[in-house]
Amino acid sequence: MNKKYTSSDISRLNAEFAESSTQELLLHFLQVYGTRIALSSSLSIEDQVLTDMILHVDPKARIFTLDTGRLFPETYQLMDRTNLHYNIKMEIFVPHTEVLQQTLLENGVNFFYESLEKRHLCCQIRKLEPLSRAFGTLDAWICGLRRSQSVTREGMQKIEWDEQHQLLKINPLIDWSEEQTWDYIRTHHVPYNKLQEQGFRSIGCQPCTRAVQPDEDIRAGRWWWESPEHRECGLHQKA
Ligand code: ADX
Ligand code: SF4
Repeated sequence: MNKKYTSSDISRLNAEFAESSTQELLLHFLQVYGTRIALSSSLSIEDQVLTDMILHVDPKARIFTLDTGRLFPETYQLMDRTNLHYNIKMEIFVPHTEVLQQTLLENGVNFFYESLEKRHLCCQIRKLEPLSRAFGTLDAWICGLRRSQSVTREGMQKIEWDEQHQLLKINPLIDWSEEQTWDYIRTHHVPYNKLQEQGFRSIGCQPCTRAVQPDEDIRAGRWWWESPEHRECGLHQKA
């Protein structure tokens, strides 16, 4: 049974782990939650760092991904490469067939470009509903969010109570820079998405992601036709 954390519990936990290393933080929560905690991985550089760290702490730790059906071929290749590299099988959650079929029948396959509401509907069907099924087996989740990724993430903390999903949420890399993330990838020979070398610094679904210029925001290529404060899919609510 999941414990509900109050805001003072969360403040205490953040104070307790303020000086801990990322590995110490992961070790603690993996030990406390066992199979009721998992890394939610989009195969981003941050999630790949976490995959590497988590599997060193516990080779049987749970890692899942939401396969929206619209990911880049390079992301699917990375899924296979990651499974092979670590000798694991990532859990894969896919959208509900009937709901998706009916929505595509009524709206066409690229309806998410038509309005913010329709884009949210697509994210709801392809990401949030599958995520809620993953959550059915969890009391806590680990994410690869970093505060410096965007304006929408500035107020986030290392340990949060996810009110929307009623779970403990751990953001071990919240204070990390992009450079620090790359240092870890290179030092530990962690597999990463080949698209990173073509200017894709934040990678989601193929039709909703484009490459960015070096002076642009990391997430400027995500839902680029929308204004910056809307560029979230609903997985992460602003703290
Ligand atoms: S998001 O807007 O797509 O959520 P981003 O790609 O920056 O943003 O991902 C942030 C974090 O959300 C990831 O580190 C990961 O924990 C989780 N996440 C995003 N997309 C997925 C996915 N397809 N499968 C699993 N987790 C995901
Ligand atoms: Fe649909 Fe785009 Fe959201 Fe992917 S990112 S689920 S394609 S709207």
